[in-house]
Amino acid sequence: MTALPLSVATFPPESAPAVAPDALLGLYRRPSVELVRGSGVRVFDADDRAYLDFTSGIGVNALGYGDGGIAHAMRDAAACGLLHTSNLYHTRPAAQLAAELARLSSLDRVFFCNSGAEANEGAFKFARRWAREVGGAAKHEILSVRGAFHGRLFATLAATDRPQYRAPFRPLAGGVSVVERDLETLEHVLDGEGVAALVIEVVQGEGGVRVLDAGFLREVRALTRARKVALICDEIQCGLGRTGWMFAYQRAAIVPDLVTLAKPLAGGLPMGAVLLTSEIAGAIRSGDHGTTFGGGPFVASVALHVLERLGDPGMLAHVTETGEWLGEQLAALATRSRRVRAVRGIGFMWGIDVMHPASETVARALEAGLLICSAGDFTVRLLPPLVATRTELAEGLAILEAALQ
Ligand SMILES: Cc1ncc(COP(=O)(O)O)c(C=O)c1O
Repeated sequence: MTALPLSVATFPPESAPAVAPDALLGLYRRPSVELVRGSGVRVFDADDRAYLDFTSGIGVNALGYGDGGIAHAMRDAAACGLLHTSNLYHTRPAAQLAAELARLSSLDRVFFCNSGAEANEGAFKFARRWAREVGGAAKHEILSVRGAFHGRLFATLAATDRPQYRAPFRPLAGGVSVVERDLETLEHVLDGEGVAALVIEVVQGEGGVRVLDAGFLREVRALTRARKVALICDEIQCGLGRTGWMFAYQRAAIVPDLVTLAKPLAGGLPMGAVLLTSEIAGAIRSGDHGTTFGGGPFVASVALHVLERLGDPGMLAHVTETGEWLGEQLAALATRSRRVRAVRGIGFMWGIDVMHPASETVARALEAGLLICSAGDFTVRLLPPLVATRTELAEGLAILEAALQ
């Protein structure tokens, strides 16, 4: 299902005059390439030059580009005329999507929002609300761990372990802190009466693609449960099939109290979600939180389609098997190259520690027709679309190897 059944296949249309991007706020160091269309695992620039995309729009485009199923889902969802209704009224797509997410995750209730950071901010509020109800007014602290990335809003930034992102914006939200990522520290800090929640990424993405050990995760689950601390799994980057599991925590056979999702959920449309146990949900009162757009019928209809595709056992098996092969290829590449220190990852999520700044490899790969990104200053990150074949991955790896030299 890769044909794009849309009449305009480039954006903006080719007849539109070129515009310099000067009016955009300069938050990103973008290369001069302008992307105008995509197909499968490739995007094309204004000169019709193709780039293999191993970033997936930073973990979003799990089904690649120009996917026929997504286009159909969008067309059908638009045809009924209800793009948005607000959350003052029921709509069927949101209810169906929530039921499906609850079934797949083993959690009970769902709150929809519009991005990853928003999902985490919501989860922090829900966890704090519950913790105060079960443990008293002092139980409020949200903990994250070394290497974490949870977003760029005030509370999520406070939970993000990147001093250079945080420093210019202090004071950040209070009652949120980062602790060491080891059991001894966690045992100690979780003993504190004031702790409401611990938030972790089962695979730390921005923090260098670190796959947390399944045994460690099980211990963390036991500790948080024993101390009545809510365990929040941030699955915004590692969730929804990227590790070969629908949810990365399923690899460790644990069930968290809250799960946050975003990136691939609605196939490139903005959508986030917080999944909760009924116990946590029981502490939330009407009016405690809200959003104008979250879970609208259009975006939820598209997400229902995406979820069906990502949850397909064939898709998950493809990611698991091809991911193992990808790991072997990267390990061999690391042995051949004198510029690679280490390779880490799982499924379609890999980090390669390099000797020189990762940005140099990223720039050389772009020149050679491959989009990759970094995860920290010395780690190159690969997040290919989950539909990529071995042939496409091998093509990208050959470009990557040349770019590393
Ligand atoms: C693990 C994780 N959490 C949260 C976020 C923030 O998501 P968003 O950029 O949609 O706010 C990201 C984004 O990269 C992420 O990787």
